[in-house]
Amino acid sequence: MSAGNATRVRTLRLTSPEETHALGVRLGKLLQPGDFVGLIGELGAGKTHLARGVAEGAEVPRSEVASPTFAIVYPYSGRIPLYHADLYRLTNYDDLYSTGFLDMVEAGDGASLVEWLDRIPEAAPREHLRVTLRHSGGDARELTAEAYGTRPAALLEAWMP
Ligand SMILES: Nc1ncnc2c1ncn2[C@@H]1O[C@H](COP(=O)(O)OP(=O)(O)OP(=O)(O)O)[C@@H](O)[C@H]1O
Ligand SMILES: [Mg+2]
Repeated sequence: MSAGNATRVRTLRLTSPEETHALGVRLGKLLQPGDFVGLIGELGAGKTHLARGVAEGAEVPRSEVASPTFAIVYPYSGRIPLYHADLYRLTNYDDLYSTGFLDMVEAGDGASLVEWLDRIPEAAPREHLRVTLRHSGGDARELTAEAYGTRPAALLEAWMP
């Protein structure tokens, strides 16, 4: 997954979980139906932490944002539908197909937020925003956001001018 042909790229240093959460909230406020955001990063990088901020920003009731331990797909109802998926335990596209998630993405009525997108990169539509989190010592994280396509680039510009 190279950033070679991304339309727009931004990198940011996050120094605390609170900062990561707040950045997620700001993204959640900007999401529109049809947006697709992939989250990439090793165990404990902060993907779920960021995703919970996104859900809050999209006005998903706190009670809907369950523990991410068991399900693969979480359809939330916020300001718009938010389809949150965690591909960690899936191995291929057929597995993902059987969850019904791809139909939700295709319906286009909501935004999609996918942790471990690098497990099944084909899950992403051609136009998407890819966010990579890397450990950077202690509570610091380096976040790289790569937009592929016109709408993702506009989304990224609004999120990180
Ligand atoms: N700057 C930071 N941003 C996000 N999380 C941080 C940061 N600093 C420390 N943390 C801690 O790192 C952990 C991140 O956990 P989280 O579940 O979000 O990771 P994850 O990428 O979803 O991992 P997994 O793939 O195992 O689900 C949390 O315990 C969080 O408190
Ligand atoms: Mg997680």
